[in-house]
Amino acid sequence: MPELMVNIDHVATLREARGVNYPDPVYAAGIAEMAGARGIIIHLREDRRHIKDRDLKILSDVVRTKLNLEMAATPEMTKIAERAKPDMITLVPEKRQELTTEGGLDVIRSAAKIEKVVRAARKHGILVSLFIDPEESQIKASSSVGADMIEIHTGAYADARTSRIREKELKKVVRAASLGRELGLGVNAGHGLHYHNVREIAVIPEINELSIGHSIIARALFVGLDRAVRDMIELIKS
Ligand code: PXP
Repeated sequence: MPELMVNIDHVATLREARGVNYPDPVYAAGIAEMAGARGIIIHLREDRRHIKDRDLKILSDVVRTKLNLEMAATPEMTKIAERAKPDMITLVPEKRQELTTEGGLDVIRSAAKIEKVVRAARKHGILVSLFIDPEESQIKASSSVGADMIEIHTGAYADARTSRIREKELKKVVRAASLGRELGLGVNAGHGLHYHNVREIAVIPEINELSIGHSIIARALFVGLDRAVRDMIELIKS
């Protein structure tokens, strides 16, 4: 069964909606860990729209489980990661205008840039995961550039409008997970997962970690973060 990693970006989104200093994603990390999350994820975007450098600094100190920093494969972000030393980084494509990460990395096209980040991270003992669409060529390229892990983008599965498309997208994730494992990569998955679509993904045996943010933070508004995290863990394990 995969472990739950909680993305707390949207606690910071709420804070930034008012430009004040609450709610604090640092508190959210502690509560999520105490509720059983096995890792905390933050995305430090180039435009700093939610998570700030201050959050990364404090979280790298206080997270007791595992901190996964999502970031673009840029020299600026690589330097920041080298200083903060999270347990792992997940490289994601980043566009300024997008509401959330829209597609997976093009590892084939950006191989040189990604290899540079992988080498730098390795020197500092930081593991590297690549957020990619469930495509054979991207998985093979991830292995070639020396990544430790892949995170399979589940957005197309989550957003499917018909059950036929959903089945098709689910099969792609299943095949991608199996190929990733075959190539010796750690396999994680995430994006768009919520309380009504997570189980089909959670039963895929090769997946080690699920990265889930928006649905947990949304549910937390009504039931509290502790309960929202526990409910998700229960679904994943059931
Ligand atoms: N994985 C990656 C790489 C992401 O960028 C995000 C969104 O920040 C997630 C997982 C979590 O997606 P969601 O918020 O839809 O659960």
